[in-house]
Amino acid sequence: MKKAITIVTFSLLVFACSRKTVSTSSTVPATATSSTTEASPESAGLNAHALLVEQGKGIFTTKCSKCHATKDVTAYTTTRWDGILQKMIPKAKLNEVEAKQVTAYVMEYASK
Ligand code: HEC
Repeated sequence: MKKAITIVTFSLLVFACSRKTVSTSSTVPATATSSTTEASPESAGLNAHALLVEQGKGIFTTKCSKCHATKDVTAYTTTRWDGILQKMIPKAKLNEVEAKQVTAYVMEYASK
């Protein structure tokens, strides 16, 4: 019986210590995360743009090739595309998000 109490006490001590260890180690990544967030707005913006372009490519190749063959993005200037997209986006019945994506893709590769 005494042995059992000793084991219980010992395991409680171990438990208490391990909990302490867990809580201290979880503080470290939290600090690390907040410092990386501070440094990242610029790269986050770049990634968001790259993602938009990538998604736009998908829209362009699927929804913009229903009536005619896929057009060559580089064949028109950004100014020409402005006018073309105003006509084609409603034709393709794109929603607001898809319109943004396809515009990002087209403007990325249009001739300047
Ligand atoms: C409902 C049918 C339809 C859809 C969907 C459509 N187009 Fe068109 N598009 C046309 C027609 C019709 C023309 C004029 C004839 C042609 O050039 O083939 C045209 C012409 C074009 C031209 C040539 C414009 C010029 O002045 O030479 C481009 C570029 C173009 N479309 C891009 C797109 C893009 C980008 C999308 C997707 C957002 C799209 N189209 C979706 C029907 C469509």
